[in-house]
Amino acid sequence: MLAAMPSRLLSSFCYLLFFLSLVAAGVESDERQILLSLKAALEKSNTNVFDSWNDTNSLCKFHGITCNSEGSVNGIELSYQKLSGVLPFDSICQLQSLEKLSLGFNFLNGKVEEDLKNCVTLWYLDLGNNIFSGPFPDISPLSQLQYLYLNQSGFTGAFPWKSLVNMAGLVQLSVGDNPFDITPFPTEVVNLKNLNWLYLSNCTLTGKIPAGIGNLTELRNLEFSDNFMSGEIPAEIGKLQKLQQLEFYNNSFSGKFPVGFGNLTSLKNFDGSMNLLEGDLSELRPLTNLVSLQLFENNLSGQIPEEFGEFKQLVNLSLYRNGLTGPIPQKIGSWAEFNFIDASENFLNGSIPPDMCSKGKMVALLLLQNKLTGEIPASYANCLTLKRFRVSNNSLSGTVPAGIWGLPKAEIIDIELNQLEGSVTSDIKNAKTLAQIYARMNRLAGEIPEEISEASKLVTIDLSENQISGKIPVGIGELKQLSTLHLQSNKLAGSIPSSLGSCNSLSDIDMAKNSLSGEIPSSLGYLPTLNSLNLSYNDISGEIPMSFTSLRLSLFDLSNNQLRGPIPQALSIQAYNGSLNGNPGLCSLDVISSFRSCSANSGMSKDVRTLIICFAIAFILLLVCLGLYLQLKQKEKDRERSLKEESWDVKSFHVLSFTEDEILDSIKQENLIGKGGSGNVYKVILSNGKELAVKHIWNTDSTGRKKSRSSSPMLAKRREKSKEFDAEVQTLSSIRHVNVVKLYCSITSEDSSLLVYEYMPNGSLWDRLHTSRKVELDWDTRYEIAVGAAKGLEYLHHGCERLVIHRDVKSSNILLDEFLKPRIADFGLAKIVQADIGKDSTHVIAGTHGYIAPEYGYTYKVNEKSDVYSFGVVLMELVTGKRPIEPEFGDNKDIVNWVCSKVQSKDGMNSVVDSRIPERYKDEAIKVLKIAILCTATLPALRPTMRSVVQMLEDADPCKLVGIVISKDGSGKVEVTDKELFKPSS
Ligand SMILES: *[C@@H]1O[C@H](CO)[C@@H](O)[C@H](O)[C@H]1NC(C)=O
Ligand SMILES: *[C@@H]1O[C@H](CO)[C@@H](O)[C@H](O)[C@H]1NC(C)=O
Repeated sequence: MLAAMPSRLLSSFCYLLFFLSLVAAGVESDERQILLSLKAALEKSNTNVFDSWNDTNSLCKFHGITCNSEGSVNGIELSYQKLSGVLPFDSICQLQSLEKLSLGFNFLNGKVEEDLKNCVTLWYLDLGNNIFSGPFPDISPLSQLQYLYLNQSGFTGAFPWKSLVNMAGLVQLSVGDNPFDITPFPTEVVNLKNLNWLYLSNCTLTGKIPAGIGNLTELRNLEFSDNFMSGEIPAEIGKLQKLQQLEFYNNSFSGKFPVGFGNLTSLKNFDGSMNLLEGDLSELRPLTNLVSLQLFENNLSGQIPEEFGEFKQLVNLSLYRNGLTGPIPQKIGSWAEFNFIDASENFLNGSIPPDMCSKGKMVALLLLQNKLTGEIPASYANCLTLKRFRVSNNSLSGTVPAGIWGLPKAEIIDIELNQLEGSVTSDIKNAKTLAQIYARMNRLAGEIPEEISEASKLVTIDLSENQISGKIPVGIGELKQLSTLHLQSNKLAGSIPSSLGSCNSLSDIDMAKNSLSGEIPSSLGYLPTLNSLNLSYNDISGEIPMSFTSLRLSLFDLSNNQLRGPIPQALSIQAYNGSLNGNPGLCSLDVISSFRSCSANSGMSKDVRTLIICFAIAFILLLVCLGLYLQLKQKEKDRERSLKEESWDVKSFHVLSFTEDEILDSIKQENLIGKGGSGNVYKVILSNGKELAVKHIWNTDSTGRKKSRSSSPMLAKRREKSKEFDAEVQTLSSIRHVNVVKLYCSITSEDSSLLVYEYMPNGSLWDRLHTSRKVELDWDTRYEIAVGAAKGLEYLHHGCERLVIHRDVKSSNILLDEFLKPRIADFGLAKIVQADIGKDSTHVIAGTHGYIAPEYGYTYKVNEKSDVYSFGVVLMELVTGKRPIEPEFGDNKDIVNWVCSKVQSKDGMNSVVDSRIPERYKDEAIKVLKIAILCTATLPALRPTMRSVVQMLEDADPCKLVGIVISKDGSGKVEVTDKELFKPSS
């Protein structure tokens, strides 16, 4: 047929074919150029997706590229490809047929160019989950868009909500998790009637939910959590009858669930936690398709509707921290593969629903702090999936089902503060993942099973205040991770197993108030991290092991036992005064107060002993007379006699440039600059102009009565005390740190001691914040004070040869130098001064009202974490500008209660920040406030160490956050000088 065609026609047909292929090739080569420029822009990506993007391969076979029937590129799908680089939208948008651009979950960075608006053929655009910067451009011309994903992409500034006006076809919109400028809920959105997916969480929205939300009747998913929105939930939301997921947690919504909320019958997942919602849950009764319901931390009240017990799909229920009353529907969780319940911290009564684990999937049963009664249902003993079982602080009774102790996946079993009976059973051998047992204050009896040794992940065992009897199992030594062992106030007998010494992580042992006998195993003295040991009120006999001399304990109590023999020298220190009382058989190697001297036993003849005693009595009488005489004579003189007349003993620990006389001359009324719990403080100006602060501590109490109650071995005791005092001062004066006040020396006489410190011209933080010497401390200065003081305290806790617990951290003990840099003062003093009081109390109690950690109230376990608490209070003072105790906090409330009651919401958080701190620093101030809240956790173990406090504070650095680089000399060096921070005002 071809042969029959005239040759002319044939040639023109060929010509046409050639021409068409030339056009196609031209388009092809343009698009190839565009794609290769995209490849070049993303060249540095750590990926091999571009291997196929080469000169020979067909364009439509490039990895991730799709073409339409004409062979033009219509889709780029390169999500999850580890791409990095800046997108060249100027070229990408020249792809004439591009409909789909999918680049989510990469590391694309830089700005998104204005040219994006030229991609007018797009109906699908995903740039979500990248690390772009700058604002997102106006995309009004992209009127074909149906899917727009920009969530978590780093865009800042104002979002171009107006662009959405042209996009009536939008089906899915996701722009959350971006730090946009604060803006009310965008009204443009509620006109997008085809939306079935709207994600606006965590993108700085304020204001109310517009009633127009009811227009979006196609919505399946609606999320606007983690914003700053408030007001009531509009009734119109009930029109969203296709809604399957609704999430608006962590806003400040208030009021009741609107009538009609129950129309949301398609709802499967609902999370409205962390708001201020009130009223009861009755509107939720028709939501029978709920799979997950989370409403924790609201102000909800009333009963949990009985209907919830019939929700056949429910697997997660979290209602903790509300004011719910009444019983928990007993059939709750019995239908589906129920996963967890947390209804803690309500006022629920009745019994624990028995069937929540009936499908064998339950992970957490958390019902702590309610008013539940009845028994722990036996069904949970078979709940092999259970990780967390916490029902503490209720009124549960009956026997703990045996299998509970042996739950194979359990990590925490917390049944404390109930009336539960039964014993810890041998099943515990199956508890291979159990880390914490809290069973304090129940009626548990029986013995601790030997099998406890097989629960090898145990970190905390608290079985205190029960009626447990028998011996402490030897196998306990196999618990290598055990840190806290509390067995106090039980009926344990037998001896303390020496195997306990192989629990190398033990830091806290309390076995007080049992009937333990036998000797103290010397192995306990070798526990490397032991911090607290209480064996008081037992029948322990034998000598105190010599190994104990190497322990450094913040709590040590062996009182009221049957110990005998010599007290190791290292334990005869005042801090442990009273720790050994009630052991009549103990004796002292050197002369310390209430113990008889060991040497009296050392085989002297009775005659010699009598003679010595007679001489001693005579000597003491003589001393007493002499003392009385001196005291009378002294009273005649003015109390403010010249201190110079006494004999002073100077202990200098730094190179001194002053004489003793210079100091003594200055201790007079007109130089008095402060009065503290422990003594008066004087300012001393030396002849060379140098200023010093001198603390004068009387060794007598305020009435002038000698503090030593028995006057017998007075002199010897006095000498002993002064030796100890000197040792303590020696230690303290060896501490050198820019944020700790320097102690130069001590000058002691018989009646008083002078501690010579460097002088701090700007007084204390307390003065600066709260008194007439108040100055406006700008935020930078406050922040620097917080960090500096934290570092000083960190040094005392972790930087010294031994742990120095301050015991009286407060803003008046944080002094400010000429540049307002902070220094910790009065460290360790509490110990010296308090030890002198010599009460029978085993424990040194110090501190100032408003700063004292709660554990002082019920235990006496003072350790460095008590300092952390007090420091948290100081941080709160810095952020709020309030004193630790203010009338406005209300009855029996201090700053800690007050802050905690306010910070439930972001608004509350803002409201406690000192109004003098400018708006732009509020975020940093809130960061510091959050650290303060951590520091003031009720449980010492939950407080951070000072080391991590410093770290956290530094992470909250305002300069880092707002990106200010303070360059003093224009060199670009980041440097903040004292002068720049010191911005005096009033
Ligand atoms: C181009 O990519 C294709 C597909 O991966 C491959 O088969 C071909 O060898 C590559 N050509 C060159 C020149 O690298
Ligand atoms: C909130 O958004 C920020 C970015 O603005 C992001 O870094 C953060 O992870 C988001 N928070 C959550 C809980 O997704």
